Amino acid sequence: MKTDTWKNRHWITTLDYTREELETILSVAEELKQSFLLGKPHDLLFRKTLFMIFYNASLRTRNSFEAGMTQLGGHAHFLDQAKIYSPALSGQQEARHSEEIADTARTLDRMGHGISIRCFGDAVGWQWGMGHRVVKEFARWSSVPIINMEDDWYHPCQAMADIMTVREKLGDLSGRKLVMSWAYAPDTKKPLSVAHSMLAVASQFGMELVLAHPEGYDLHPEVLQKVQANVDHYGGSFRISHDMDEAYRGADVIYAKSWTARQFWPPITDKLEEAALDALAEANKDWICDSRRMGLAKKTAIYMHCLPCNRDFEVTRDVIDGAQSVVFDQAENRLHAQKAIMSLLMG
Ligand code: CP
Repeated sequence: MKTDTWKNRHWITTLDYTREELETILSVAEELKQSFLLGKPHDLLFRKTLFMIFYNASLRTRNSFEAGMTQLGGHAHFLDQAKIYSPALSGQQEARHSEEIADTARTLDRMGHGISIRCFGDAVGWQWGMGHRVVKEFARWSSVPIINMEDDWYHPCQAMADIMTVREKLGDLSGRKLVMSWAYAPDTKKPLSVAHSMLAVASQFGMELVLAHPEGYDLHPEVLQKVQANVDHYGGSFRISHDMDEAYRGADVIYAKSWTARQFWPPITDKLEEAALDALAEANKDWICDSRRMGLAKKTAIYMHCLPCNRDFEVTRDVIDGAQSVVFDQAENRLHAQKAIMSLLMG
């Protein structure tokens, strides 16, 4: 691979990158993790600025980017959605308190070296997919890298931290079974981004994939087609199960979390159908990751969740706080993976 192909590329989904490129990100992340551990300076982004636009709440993403930029010798500038203008696509600006993304992007790219964005749900009027359109609109106009900090389609930074964690725990991933499982949560308005992104990246690493969910929680067919195309190219396998117990049998990795039922969201419906969302979730309350179900997986299996989680609903406390849980390794690896991505794209 040519070494000068990284500068100023956008980071929207791992699917825009080859397996070889993702391997490079992981190698850099491992090196930066060692430097952090040893207290070795690594000012790869000395005096550079990342603008972080959060249209939604965050704990892990904000703090891992902010700490990461400091450790790389630069600065992360936090833009609070309450104190900036709402994002508008071209020709769709509202009269008050909004700004066309073309103008926001072309202003910030004159002042810094990267722009990262989180956008979904409330920030875009509960239109499913609009957050992804916002991120892509920034990428269309910005001359510096756009980093997707989670939209309603993808969470690629989480995906890189997650695949880094799986490799640390399991080593070679070929032949390893990963179950991406829906789980019940009282909060029914969650993006599909983590499930999409984990399946995407795991398919790029040739894993044996099972997507487990009740009827009605289908992921986007376009993403599933890309997952299948990766399986055809990189090896591994992919299937869908509507039986949580059956799916868990013999697994190496259980990633159990909630996501929304997209069928009740605009643009599929005229307006967000909250009562239908809640009713479907209530009907599937038994989709919880507990110790009995973890017992169906291999003894060496790991339990994953991106956090924040709905404890006692998505997962029981004995599982998430137990020996098989790697959730805080995942959270830590957000720092190292994102430092690698920023160093390669913004350096
Ligand atoms: N996993 C994750 O993105 O966490 P935050 O929502 O806290 O950023």
